[in-house]
Amino acid sequence: MRVLVVGGGGREHALCWRLASSVTVEEVLCAPGNVGIAEIARRRQIDPLDAAAVTRGALEEDVDLVVVGPEAPLVAGAADALAEAGVPVFGPSADAARLESSKSFAKRVMAEAGVPTAASWAGGDVSEALAALDRFGPPYVVKADGLAAGKGVVVAHDRGQAEAAVRAALEQRVFGDAGATLIVESFLDGPEVSVFALTDGDSVLVLQAAQDFKRVGDRDEGPNTGGMGAYCPVPAVSPELIERLRGEVFEPVLGALRARGVRYVGVLYAGLVLTPHGPQVLEFNARFGDPETQVVLPRLRSDLAALLAACAHRELGGIRPPIWDHRPCVGVVLASGGYPGKYPTGLPITGLDEAAAMADVAVFHAGTRRDGEDIVTAGGRVLCVSALGDTIEDARARAYQAAACIHFDGVQYRRDIAARVTASFPQAAEARS
Ligand code: GLY
Repeated sequence: MRVLVVGGGGREHALCWRLASSVTVEEVLCAPGNVGIAEIARRRQIDPLDAAAVTRGALEEDVDLVVVGPEAPLVAGAADALAEAGVPVFGPSADAARLESSKSFAKRVMAEAGVPTAASWAGGDVSEALAALDRFGPPYVVKADGLAAGKGVVVAHDRGQAEAAVRAALEQRVFGDAGATLIVESFLDGPEVSVFALTDGDSVLVLQAAQDFKRVGDRDEGPNTGGMGAYCPVPAVSPELIERLRGEVFEPVLGALRARGVRYVGVLYAGLVLTPHGPQVLEFNARFGDPETQVVLPRLRSDLAALLAACAHRELGGIRPPIWDHRPCVGVVLASGGYPGKYPTGLPITGLDEAAAMADVAVFHAGTRRDGEDIVTAGGRVLCVSALGDTIEDARARAYQAAACIHFDGVQYRRDIAARVTASFPQAAEARS
């Protein structure tokens, strides 16, 4: 099988890396990929947001499967264009990806499916939004309906701050059209976990859960980021809970979509809050999580290419549940100094080979580029160093040992990724976005 992966971040590096290790995969291509991906896949300089160009590239290369990594190409219709051209694709249509691109749509589908989620109001009227704030009470949760580059969610204890967020979105249009509709919802109290389900639209394979660390600083301090690290599995998410999520979340949502004439093919990512009253869906994403993928895939022993191709060919029903390495995985994100604010780029990175040479360690590139002989920084989140270990403590010790080999000026990373993993979750619920 020849597989084209669309995207160029750490998640796509992990996807390419796992696909390249498959006996059924002859060649992995990546559009556009990155410096790390170039070591295991052939790069094609194609704009992921140009659905026609992605389709042309897939046809030129005569690939057997396209795997779309990020949400933006899906929302731009990459999967639709590929399917129309007869190319097997792992990734939902733009219509199905509305589960991520429109939070109010996701809420409607969840209501139709009877899926547990926070009570909410959606609309574009300021006075109604303010009334909804008072109805749901503190902590106040205000969300832009559309994609807002990870900045569209405000959780505020202060009523004034929440009102300012409402006015900024609806009156000042700080999120443009993405914030023209707002969601105001009740706060879900509990730890947050990420659970991915592979689906062909009918059958569902739920993968083992991961947890990411969204704040930039140790003890969940500082601003939100794209994710500063993750670990898998999550002890609090038992096999019984996974089974419950399949029956109470994933299958009903896919059924509600089918009833609307929409088939969801790809990975459905449920961001869940484990409340005292049971798991509730905080949000859906139409793609794998980043950096969760970088800790889930190193543990996957089943053939990833076969799983994704079965989804694309609508043959997932005949596939056995995934087999997992029993060892936990911990991933630490190395970020540029200043991230998630302003940060410099072009800084030489050393120690990559030394870190990658460690047994059961993988170094996934996100914000890097080549500059002559050097690999230099090119983004906020630069690398994710993932390590397997016999225990979670062992995995994190090895991840940090590998991270310590790598240097660039201003490098910052959290020192407490997976430091307090227990079945009862010590992380503060308020630390999440
Ligand atoms: N780790 C959060 C996300 O991928 O959206």
